[in-house]
Amino acid sequence: MDDFEVSSKIRNYKVQFHLTNEKLEEILEGHDLVIADKAIAYKLPPKLPELIQLEAAEELKDLGTVSRIVEEIGAFGLNRQSRIAVIGGGVAQDIGGFVASILMRGINWSFFPTTLLAMGDSCVGGKTSINIRAGKNLIGSFYPPGEVHVFFEFLKSLPISLRVEGLIEVVKILAVAGERPNTIGTVEELLGGENTIQDLVYRSLLAKKSIVESDERDVGKRQLLNLGHTFAHALEEASDMGIRHGVAVGVGIVAASKFATLVGHKSDQELEALIRDLLSVLPNNLAKIEWRTFQLLILRDKKWTKDIATLILPLSSGIEAWSSKVDPLLLSMVEECARDAVLETLQR
Ligand SMILES: NC(=O)c1ccc[n+]([C@@H]2O[C@H](COP(=O)([O-])OP(=O)(O)OC[C@H]3O[C@@H](n4cnc5c(N)ncnc54)[C@H](O)[C@@H]3O)[C@@H](O)[C@H]2O)c1
Repeated sequence: MDDFEVSSKIRNYKVQFHLTNEKLEEILEGHDLVIADKAIAYKLPPKLPELIQLEAAEELKDLGTVSRIVEEIGAFGLNRQSRIAVIGGGVAQDIGGFVASILMRGINWSFFPTTLLAMGDSCVGGKTSINIRAGKNLIGSFYPPGEVHVFFEFLKSLPISLRVEGLIEVVKILAVAGERPNTIGTVEELLGGENTIQDLVYRSLLAKKSIVESDERDVGKRQLLNLGHTFAHALEEASDMGIRHGVAVGVGIVAASKFATLVGHKSDQELEALIRDLLSVLPNNLAKIEWRTFQLLILRDKKWTKDIATLILPLSSGIEAWSSKVDPLLLSMVEECARDAVLETLQR
């Protein structure tokens, strides 16, 4: 597993892999401040630079938390040469990366992903996102870290549900890159040993590197990585974040597959089956979904315009973007697919 560099118009950055945590302390010593997910703070070396802890809750990925952290950092007296280390999952990354992007118009930061989703997906690509009342991830920046350090040991404490969430995003990336489900593996294999996970993370990041290098700003091929996300963001919000992101993406992929069939395309049955198998590992989710707001939430998708709806569909020919006029019939079809997917995979 070789380290590699991701080319970016903002700054190139290196992704480095570590099988043990041996070098963690030494690497952190090169930073002036650590922002870490509270849940993994106990795993960090005792000798650390200044430490700010955050709670990795989706409802706290907001401007209130950003403001609190910016003020705390201000009190440390950092300068433009300072380096921040951000340690945690996607929530810590989004908050820490956004903070780094606005402090003194951008200071250097490194990211240390600790969840499978962050290791296999979000740590490459340079996006940072913050939720506002009007919707999830509606503000943010493109601001890649100077370095990404994947320390696989962090995965040891990850509960199975979070492994499944990460695997859903990894399977999605590999599918967008053209890998067939039978070369990705069965659920048993995917949830098997650490070696399988490490190999999957590596393949997924290489695939993501290639996609984001060809479309960093998310105006072309990178949009295919949004497979399942139109449904997912609406489901997360309509359930008041009672359905977690990775789970919502899985349900969203099943819903998108149903939608593909509804509009006359041949959907990718094998990919849908693998995602269903992954979701079946999770316990029943009894979160209340506010279906009355669902269609309004769908309309807020960043890929959609006032008139044109865009959905990413898993077709037997590959992952493709599909567009059509926004109208009430289309919205009700989207909702119907989401409802069926939730009933079949989550609230079964
Ligand atoms: N910036 C991007 O490109 C990007 C891409 C995909 C998703 N995201 C965002 O990522 C977020 C989801 O991130 P996530 O799935 O990594 O979850 P998360 O950051 O919400 O963490 C999930 C839970 O796991 C805990 N945790 C973290 N590391 C752990 C570990 N090693 N062992 C045990 N528990 C651990 C956290 O404290 C939290 O309770 C969403 O907000 C999503 O929008 C961002």
